[in-house]
Amino acid sequence: MRRSLQFLYLLLLWCDDPIVAWATEAFIGTYGINYGRLADNIPSPDEVVILLRAAKIRNVRIYDVDHTVLKAFSGTGLDLIVGLPNGNLKDVNASEDNALDWVKENVQSFLPDTRIRGIAVGNEVLGGDDYELWGVLLGAVKNVYSAIKTLKLDDVVQITTAHSSAVFANSYPPSSCKFNDNVDQYMKPLLAFFQEIGSPFCLNAYPFLAYLSDPANIDINYALFQKTQGIDDQKNNLHYDNMLDAIIDAAYVALEDAGFKKMEVIVTETGWASKGDSNQAAATVDNAKTYNYNLRKRLALRKGTPLRPKYVLKAYIFALFNEYQKPGATSERNFGLYKPDGSLSYDIGFPALNSSSATSLHGSLKVIRDQACFGSNVVVHVVSTVILILFSRF
Ligand SMILES: *[C@@H]1O[C@H](CO)[C@@H](O)[C@H](O)[C@H]1NC(C)=O
Ligand SMILES: *[C@@H]1O[C@H](CO)[C@@H](O)[C@H](O)[C@H]1NC(C)=O
Repeated sequence: MRRSLQFLYLLLLWCDDPIVAWATEAFIGTYGINYGRLADNIPSPDEVVILLRAAKIRNVRIYDVDHTVLKAFSGTGLDLIVGLPNGNLKDVNASEDNALDWVKENVQSFLPDTRIRGIAVGNEVLGGDDYELWGVLLGAVKNVYSAIKTLKLDDVVQITTAHSSAVFANSYPPSSCKFNDNVDQYMKPLLAFFQEIGSPFCLNAYPFLAYLSDPANIDINYALFQKTQGIDDQKNNLHYDNMLDAIIDAAYVALEDAGFKKMEVIVTETGWASKGDSNQAAATVDNAKTYNYNLRKRLALRKGTPLRPKYVLKAYIFALFNEYQKPGATSERNFGLYKPDGSLSYDIGFPALNSSSATSLHGSLKVIRDQACFGSNVVVHVVSTVILILFSRF
């Protein structure tokens, strides 16, 4: 008996055991990144793994379930959120079987080697252009969740959906924020379901866009986390020294107003473009560097917001690469921390793909995978030690 438990312990040490490791939080640390791939000139998924490891970025979001990406992330120890694209929502809403097939093919078959921690069902659906999808989002979310449950993956994979700021009305000052009347009837049942399954509210939050919407009245330094007088929210008697915290607290106010005071807000996208159209003068390399450098410092504080000090702020940066095939304004194609060749868009302390720290890892993905296997997952070790001690007494 004891011998077999010791063997179990060694096994747990040998490689992160999915059941134990995944009982921990879905988001480790506070800093993550969005790995968008609307460009055919960016590094391969294998090279991206090298880059992320060199930059020590562990939390990654993708917008689909591209199998070459899922394979490249296998055995790397990186934690991945995948996306069920808006184009699949109707199909997945239509039947539980469709959802089950999708989850089996695109999620279950890659577990546990690829650490898929979450599925974002749809992106910025409510408040978006495709009105028909507003009514299918909840059905799709429920079907994906029941698929996860059927496959006994509900402790491993979290189900969410990301919202844009289009779901809010009156977000200034934060204390006056509410959900827009037009999304209310869809939002409330969705939130009720997420509350039931313990999922957070996921927000794509862009001080960049808020600033561009009213540059005459907003101090750009406030949006860039630079020193300003900040904003006093008189109703809440709270002070904000940067716009991102204010946007997040506006979301907390809307959630509380809707009856979901305990729901956590996670920032699934934020960033600043380094280049834009002529009406986007704030999209400069300097401003993007300032925003992303200060954001990194803000997240490293591991602090909550003025209204919810206990919910440590977690954010996925948008984005890893400039993506030249993205439609829309020039800024859309210039949010990357990296250029397509793997060099830095600007230096905020991350290595370039071709820098020596990255190249020392180059050519040896196996080394990375082995390292990941021996990764210092303290929880696994503590839990297995406790199990061992408990059972050794008998
Ligand atoms: C969503 O699914 C439900 C249940 O199957 C169905 O009644 C409804 O028509 C679907 N909505 C759309 C727009 O397909
Ligand atoms: C990395 O790539 C950039 C852009 O191609 C180049 O300017 C730089 O010299 C390269 N650095 C190294 C260390 O190779």
